[in-house]
Amino acid sequence: MQEYRQNTGLWTPESNTAPAFSAGGAWLGASDFRRPAYLVQSASGHRGVGLGGRLVQSTAELAAPAFPLLALLPPIYPEWLGDPSFHEAHGTRFSYVAGAMANGIATTEMVIEMARAGMLGFFGAAGLSRSRVETAIDELERELGDAMPWGANLIHSPHEPALEEAVADLYIERSVRRVSAAAYLGLTPYIVRYACHGLHRDAEGRVLRKNHVFAKVSHPQTAAHFMRPAPAVMLKKLVAEGKLTQEEALLARSVAVAEDITAEADSGGHTDNRPLTVLLPSLMALRDEICREQGYARPIRVGAAGGLGTPAAVASAYALGAAYVVTGSVNQACIESGLDASGKEMLAKADIGDVVMAPAADMFEMGVEVQVLKHGTMFAARAAKLYELYKEHSSLEEILASDRERVESQILRESFTDAWAKTRSFWIERDPREVSKAEASPKHLMALVFRSYLGQASRWAIAGHSERRVDFQIWCGPAMGAFNRWARGSFLEAPKERRVAQVALNLLEGAAQCTRAQQLRSGGLAPPSEAFDFRPRVFSLAVGDSATTQSPLHSSTKSVATQSHSTHPRSNHHVASL
Ligand SMILES: Cc1cc2nc3c(=O)[nH]c(=O)nc-3n(C[C@H](O)[C@H](O)[C@H](O)COP(=O)(O)O)c2cc1C
Repeated sequence: MQEYRQNTGLWTPESNTAPAFSAGGAWLGASDFRRPAYLVQSASGHRGVGLGGRLVQSTAELAAPAFPLLALLPPIYPEWLGDPSFHEAHGTRFSYVAGAMANGIATTEMVIEMARAGMLGFFGAAGLSRSRVETAIDELERELGDAMPWGANLIHSPHEPALEEAVADLYIERSVRRVSAAAYLGLTPYIVRYACHGLHRDAEGRVLRKNHVFAKVSHPQTAAHFMRPAPAVMLKKLVAEGKLTQEEALLARSVAVAEDITAEADSGGHTDNRPLTVLLPSLMALRDEICREQGYARPIRVGAAGGLGTPAAVASAYALGAAYVVTGSVNQACIESGLDASGKEMLAKADIGDVVMAPAADMFEMGVEVQVLKHGTMFAARAAKLYELYKEHSSLEEILASDRERVESQILRESFTDAWAKTRSFWIERDPREVSKAEASPKHLMALVFRSYLGQASRWAIAGHSERRVDFQIWCGPAMGAFNRWARGSFLEAPKERRVAQVALNLLEGAAQCTRAQQLRSGGLAPPSEAFDFRPRVFSLAVGDSATTQSPLHSSTKSVATQSHSTHPRSNHHVASL
């Protein structure tokens, strides 16, 4: 390495401690990341790391030796990863989000657990009725109120705009402050109304918002809709319909629809399978361009989702510039998830390649796919067969006898006639217009029957319907396998030990260590591979504390964590007890 020397002074250790010029020293510097680390040089030109000690200008009257200082690495706290404005906007302690998981898989319990740990969770409202969502809001309000951060999901429903509207209106009525918008390709009046409702000016004339939209996107084109102000035509119509005030519509012209944009890379559920390294920088560049163009007073944050199942992955997302990180797959295997224990066991066995794309129930006809678990279930292959038949035929009657026999006996486990009768009764209750449409269009009837299998396959997994185990539809991304590999041999290996906040604290703590290890390596040191391999351990959060280790696997960890609290500038943000 090229010689580098800058006149930054000298560093001298406390008595009886010496800087470490070995890989072991670099390891200590990495694991003790809440303390500043001094990069120093020995007389022979080797680089080492010192902890503690002090900076001096000369060696005069020093008992201990002094070493030229090459660089000072500041402390790192898991709380400091990400964008500080995220904490201010959402009242969290960590820039960490547990993403929504449909059909109530992201339970109220999960959201509450996250909030109490100083993080943000979104209730999985997609696929649920308005009344079921309202019951969840009742509980979240009761347990968390306005004082703690929480949110719920609004999914774009091209087949059921009335449901999308009803849930959006419910969020406005019940003052749900944070909504994660999913599966949008463009804006709908419902999400725009939610975003703009309550816009007002403060005494200094700044435009403040009551409702925060987190827009989950996989493509810059979709992101642009949310990064720009709501379209004038849509605002005008909402005002004409009495759904926004003139003032709200006027103020909406100076703010983005969503100030938190989540880049959804290769994830569980809906995904375009884009690598985070491709998507996140593209969205950040677009954000800069649109912020310049619009001259916004506030920044738009871009967060990262998809593939985050290890500390190194989380560290890399923050290093790319993510304002916050979002996890999904890893939370589904946790105690608080709404998935049945049998599904969690299946998830805990998954490796990184045990996922596959399969047709999505909600946008089946459009050919949209979701990423699901492949290991231990035949759902993906069966759903793909149904989609293939749907594309090739214009009615159930047209399907060849051999295919029909297979679908009826193995997949639906009932005749087409019986399957339609049940599907029909479901839609008569939910939206009779779908039945009229199906009775006029045999192709639509076929879509409804096949979609019914896809929709139920997720509910069988949630309920743990053992007779339908081979049909379980479990949305899952490769992060699950990465997490399982990382957790192997630790207390987090068994799903019954996985709690969402424990998982999050471990990922964050580990991400801080990986960040420090990388800084040391960039400073010319050679930390050993263990410095990048943070091992899971049990954390607790106590009042006034940062994340502290209760029973550390490494004896050094406790002292590291304990020392940090008094100097931690954000330690009085949100405090939680686990
Ligand atoms: C079981 C499951 C259900 C999901 N359902 C939704 C949903 O209803 N709405 C949504 O915005 N995202 C949904 N997601 C995506 C997550 O919120 C999150 O963005 C994603 O899982 C992050 O990527 P990862 O799976 O690689 O961790 C779901 C993910 C999973 C695993």
